[in-house]
Amino acid sequence: MNIKQPSKTFSPLRVMSVTGGKGGVGKSTIAVNMAVCYAKMNKKVLLFDADLGLANVDLMLGLRAKRTIHDVLDGQCTLEEVCLEGPYGLKVIPSTSGIQKMADLGSVDISRLIQSFSSMTSDVDIMIIDMASGVSSQVIDFTQATQDIVVVICNNPASLMDSYAVIKILHQKYARSRFGIVVNKVKSSYEGFEVYNKFQDVTAKFFNINMHYLGHIPQDECVHLSALEGVSIVDKYPQSSAVIALEKVCRGINQWPDDSPLTGGIQFFFERLIRSQLDNVEI
Ligand SMILES: Nc1ncnc2c1ncn2[C@@H]1O[C@H](COP(=O)(O)OP(=O)(O)OP(=O)(O)O)[C@@H](O)[C@H]1O
Ligand SMILES: [Mg+2]
Repeated sequence: MNIKQPSKTFSPLRVMSVTGGKGGVGKSTIAVNMAVCYAKMNKKVLLFDADLGLANVDLMLGLRAKRTIHDVLDGQCTLEEVCLEGPYGLKVIPSTSGIQKMADLGSVDISRLIQSFSSMTSDVDIMIIDMASGVSSQVIDFTQATQDIVVVICNNPASLMDSYAVIKILHQKYARSRFGIVVNKVKSSYEGFEVYNKFQDVTAKFFNINMHYLGHIPQDECVHLSALEGVSIVDKYPQSSAVIALEKVCRGINQWPDDSPLTGGIQFFFERLIRSQLDNVEI
């Protein structure tokens, strides 16, 4: 078999969305700080703020965006030109806040945006996407375009209901059946595991899905304090219980079998994912 090699070779890529349905459960906190954790572990990380209407990832890292994804969609600049540099070389693609038309982007624009990532020439090991709350088609379109779906839940019925709704849509509409769960804002590891078990029991009654417990993050005042200062908690309070737990979640994701890299739909970095699949095939 003679396969044409791309002009540039890239390292294998993992693309993960951090979602959850319910607002305020800690999706952005976890996405941003996982990205910093991985960057600190010398991974090449790209963090994309997919909360197109109410972006806050740049603020959480104390960065100031001159250009955003809005300019990319307007054809004013490339994705690479909007990239900001965060701690440990982390690359951040900021989004907009308060521009209604961005919050209302339709599926065609979302697909165009997802496809435009393939033209990025930067090498990336891990791409992390912070999702907006809710189950809008924008949230679902972005989430289905990632291989790893990390669902953040909290110990309250509204969070569990909303996460259940996200999983249901992704499973029924896109046949997604592999979900990693992080339980946030808990008082103990016992509480985290109990919430996960309860959630898994309910979903297993209705869907045949493969759920994986990635761990818990404790309720920790340091999260709030670092957010107020616009600094990552990983940098500001590296010894805090939240950071120790986050690092464990990141290591857990590294162990999470990467057994469904291609899902059949439009995906971020599609060509690179195909390439890494072909590299794993005996030729
Ligand atoms: N483990 C934690 N301990 C303490 N506070 C936390 C923790 N995780 C998140 N928070 C706080 O909860 C609030 C909501 O967090 P965050 O903005 O990350 O949620 P979100 O799910 O992204 O919300 P939205 O849906 O509005 O985007 C913030 O004030 C954040 O500092
Ligand atoms: Mg958020």
